[in-house]
Amino acid sequence: MSKPVRAAMIGLGFGSEFIPIYQAHPNAEVTALCRRNEAELNKAGDQFGIEKRYTDYDAVLADPEIDFVHINSPIPDHAWMSLKALDAGKHVMCTVPMATTIDECRQIVEKVEQTGLKYMMAETVVYSREFLYIKELYDKGELGEIQHLAASHPQDMDGWPSYWEKMIPMHYATHVVSPCLGLTNGLAEYVSCFGSGKVRDSIAEKSGNKFAVESCHIKLQDSDVVAHIWRFLYDVARQYRESFDVYGTKKSFEWTLIENEPHVIHTAKKPEPEIPEKVEIPDFAHLLPSEIQKFTLPSEIHDADHLSFIQGGGHGGSHPHLVHEMVSSIVEDRSPWPNAVTSANWTCVGLCAHESALKGGERVTLPEFTLKR
Ligand SMILES: NC(=O)c1ccc[n+]([C@@H]2O[C@H](COP(=O)([O-])OP(=O)(O)OC[C@H]3O[C@@H](n4cnc5c(N)ncnc54)[C@H](O)[C@@H]3O)[C@@H](O)[C@H]2O)c1
Repeated sequence: MSKPVRAAMIGLGFGSEFIPIYQAHPNAEVTALCRRNEAELNKAGDQFGIEKRYTDYDAVLADPEIDFVHINSPIPDHAWMSLKALDAGKHVMCTVPMATTIDECRQIVEKVEQTGLKYMMAETVVYSREFLYIKELYDKGELGEIQHLAASHPQDMDGWPSYWEKMIPMHYATHVVSPCLGLTNGLAEYVSCFGSGKVRDSIAEKSGNKFAVESCHIKLQDSDVVAHIWRFLYDVARQYRESFDVYGTKKSFEWTLIENEPHVIHTAKKPEPEIPEKVEIPDFAHLLPSEIQKFTLPSEIHDADHLSFIQGGGHGGSHPHLVHEMVSSIVEDRSPWPNAVTSANWTCVGLCAHESALKGGERVTLPEFTLKR
């Protein structure tokens, strides 16, 4: 067996969730932990039995015993931390989004090209059991030709850390962009987005964004298909949802309106009352090494009280799939999915969408560096 891939976990809120999975993975280990608060760092180190503990990110990067960093710090830190890690010769897995500016995305893509290191954005949605189920239907031809895609991510952020008040809805759009593009492994070519309604003044002042809802159409490259995504962060009444609807010539998949109720498959050309059928989504743990299969289950979520799980529906059992993809890409020396270019395309859709909304819905083309494989 090959030597284990040695990870350092950066940020121990959501990040802690992944530690037991790496520890159980046959080809990985968590060599070090990093967070700024020393007391909390030691608490996590003791809990997971990890001796190497750093409060200083630069010290992690100077450690020759670390192969890659898994970054779970707050959003404004994703880009600079990824760039510094690549400069230090470390592979990077980073939680979403890749960055908050197009220029930072470009820098990460260029650095990955220059160094040959791996970069993967840890997008939970495209490793959720729902996405894997729809993808299997698509790959088997059961949906027929795709005619339209739609996704929504309504999220009321009152009660979350205050840095969210500075965020713009479409700057955190990868949970809706990724399934629409990931299903056919397509890339976005251009977008047109409208802002709708308005947030309270105190939020608008902090974020510089007045729109409550941002609603965007995405034109897929080399395809006649268009996707529609929408999103809000404040001041709209709706339960949390990361929905994904797919409309095909033979079958369509529609996400449930209410969390934990069944999703629906529509089949063409049946008698009208028989067209919709409620479906039970199977689990996809069989794609994983046996040692980490149990982590697709909600009961294995380490901190189930964390708002991100209460609102995120447990992320569809995606966590062990993300760990396995990143570790396998290093062991097999191949590009992870999504790699840097795909992650940049998915992230830049949201960045371009907000730009479009500010110009009243004008078409904005994705930057060239996100359109080449
Ligand atoms: N479904 C998903 O993909 C999903 C779900 C939840 C969270 N997230 C993302 O994960 C990230 C973390 O979310 P969270 O809820 O755990 O946030 P959090 O604020 O609870 O935790 C952030 C952690 O990062 C650490 N940190 C911050 N700056 C650091 C630095 N300079 N060096 C080392 N450590 C540092 C903090 O000490 C803390 O442990 C966010 O970017 C969030 O968007 C993604």
